[in-house]
Amino acid sequence: MQIKNLEEYNIAYEESVKDPERFWASVAEHFEWQKKWDKVLEWNFTSPDIKWFINGKLNITENCIDRHLATKARDVAFYFEENEIGKPVREITYQKLHDEVCRLANVLKSFGVKKGDRVCIYLPMIPEAVYALLACARIGAVHSVVFGGFSAQSIKDRINDSSCKVVLTSDGAYRGNKQIPMKATVDEALVDCPSVTNVLVYKRINGKVNMLNGRDHDWETEVKKQETVCTAEIMDSEDPLFILYTSGSTGKPKGVVHTCGGYMVYTCYSFLNVFQYEPGQIYWCTADVGWITGHSYITYGPLLAGATSVIFEGVPNYPDAGRFWNVVDKIKVNVFYTAPTAIRALEAAGLDFVKPHSLSSLKVLGSVGEPINEEAWQWYHKNIGKEKCPIVDTWWQTETGGILISPLANITKTKPGFATLPLPGVQPVLVDDKGKIIEGNGVEGNLCIKFPWPSIIRTTYGDHERCRQTYFATYSNLYFTGDGCKRDEDGYYRITGRVDDVINVSGHRIGTAEVESAINECEEVVESAVVGYPHDIKGQGIYAYCIVPKSSRSHDEIRKEILNTVNKIIGPIAKPDKIQIVNGLPKTRSGKIMRRILRKVAEGDVSNLGDTSTLLDPAVVEEIVKGKI
Ligand code: PRX
Repeated sequence: MQIKNLEEYNIAYEESVKDPERFWASVAEHFEWQKKWDKVLEWNFTSPDIKWFINGKLNITENCIDRHLATKARDVAFYFEENEIGKPVREITYQKLHDEVCRLANVLKSFGVKKGDRVCIYLPMIPEAVYALLACARIGAVHSVVFGGFSAQSIKDRINDSSCKVVLTSDGAYRGNKQIPMKATVDEALVDCPSVTNVLVYKRINGKVNMLNGRDHDWETEVKKQETVCTAEIMDSEDPLFILYTSGSTGKPKGVVHTCGGYMVYTCYSFLNVFQYEPGQIYWCTADVGWITGHSYITYGPLLAGATSVIFEGVPNYPDAGRFWNVVDKIKVNVFYTAPTAIRALEAAGLDFVKPHSLSSLKVLGSVGEPINEEAWQWYHKNIGKEKCPIVDTWWQTETGGILISPLANITKTKPGFATLPLPGVQPVLVDDKGKIIEGNGVEGNLCIKFPWPSIIRTTYGDHERCRQTYFATYSNLYFTGDGCKRDEDGYYRITGRVDDVINVSGHRIGTAEVESAINECEEVVESAVVGYPHDIKGQGIYAYCIVPKSSRSHDEIRKEILNTVNKIIGPIAKPDKIQIVNGLPKTRSGKIMRRILRKVAEGDVSNLGDTSTLLDPAVVEEIVKGKI
């Protein structure tokens, strides 16, 4: 399954394009199937309808855990580094992982959870979060993880969209020097979630929480009652494994659905090849389990490969900006995978936080979530990788399930800012705005993929039409990523960022429409428009233009209210960095907001605002430019 050199990559790539079914069947042979598939692939991008490993039967947790027990029962699956510095690292062996997952799976069963039922997970970055995902998968329940930074309203929307039966949560979370309540937030959400029958609460911070009789249960007490054996539910390849909500250009976040067979095959294959993980190495992905990176490259991919990983509860700057490097030395991490926003923040903190650490165990560095600017790339390469570790700049999305474009460590020649080449099985194309494929090198266009790979999105939960509209209708017969992209003279891909109304703030994907609708909940705001602008640390910041008619309150008070409202409706990650109170927004005669102009103003590039002839009222623009923050 693991490619070893450039020649093997070239051969694998060619084979994967010439005969994709044969190629992926040979990869899928490496897993344990309860029953092999009858046919590898059926697909069309029109409906869309995509099926991989048809009629194959499996349980992904048998492949993540049980399969390794004969040889690896005592090997460490996870090292757990707590938020507080100086605590001993906890070790979770594959055997322990098995036992904990089975116990928790039995608890879920005792709550009446059955195959196909949805379970919401709202937990901090602790081993129990990984147990929770796997316990669901063990019994065929569909997990829907909600990132711990989301508000009660966001939890409620997600729970109701997929009618979750059970919520797995904790009393609270440690985050740096803060303690964040979680159960209280869940309680607030559950006031309006009729589908939820049971809540399991893990005590992490020993905070006082309300426990509702009959509905809420103590995690430890329930788990202790259960056996460490739980027969794995037999799943069809195309049974859903999980739902993960993600933001788009319009409307509320949608539930991206991934299925069991293809996701298993692709996450393991991409993990082994991109990072060139070797047995015995220690791998650390700093993502949160609430995002797709935490699903594919903390939980499933590494476990499928029998790897040893790190789970880190804390944040990069606590107790200081040397924490990551402290952990790298403490656990002797070999492969380190993080986001550009973290790199930029640690770069800004200065080299004094790096110098005391040897970092000599590091062999491979990774980047994910947003374009990595050249300066950050060089800093990472020089100061963390000591110029001897390749950087794999991995491009992918919640919808792709796994990494699609990336160097393979020590195999593909890297180039700062470039995700370089597609993985075998991935067929990227660039198209112009009319959908015409742009051939050749040294070109730029909208990034699409023209052939399915095993972990491609299957649907958006409860609304297949939305999936079709969002990803498969823009250009016929192509999956549209929403990203702009360059292909240079070497055929290397460089992702330039979103071409739609999605912004990427510290690697978090946020829909501008979502933020606008939250802002519009403020009584005094008549209308708002939100755009992204370049931000030194976050990559992009959120700039909100808000129309507020004459008010007795000061602009500062109104701004505070806007921030509180966004915090309450979405969560802290969506709070605007800049709020400009305006009297009007630049609109065309047909009433459409000209976001292009608002983006230019937010970027501070007002010398050339482009064609403004279709504006209803040009004076609005002048006023906005004058009032820019
Ligand atoms: O714009 C791309 C950016 O993140 C988007 C996907 O966000 P999400 O679904 O939250 O998944 C993030 C983790 C995979 C993409 O459409 N993106 C992700 N990785 C990169 C990137 N942009 C540039 N370079 C990357 N390596």
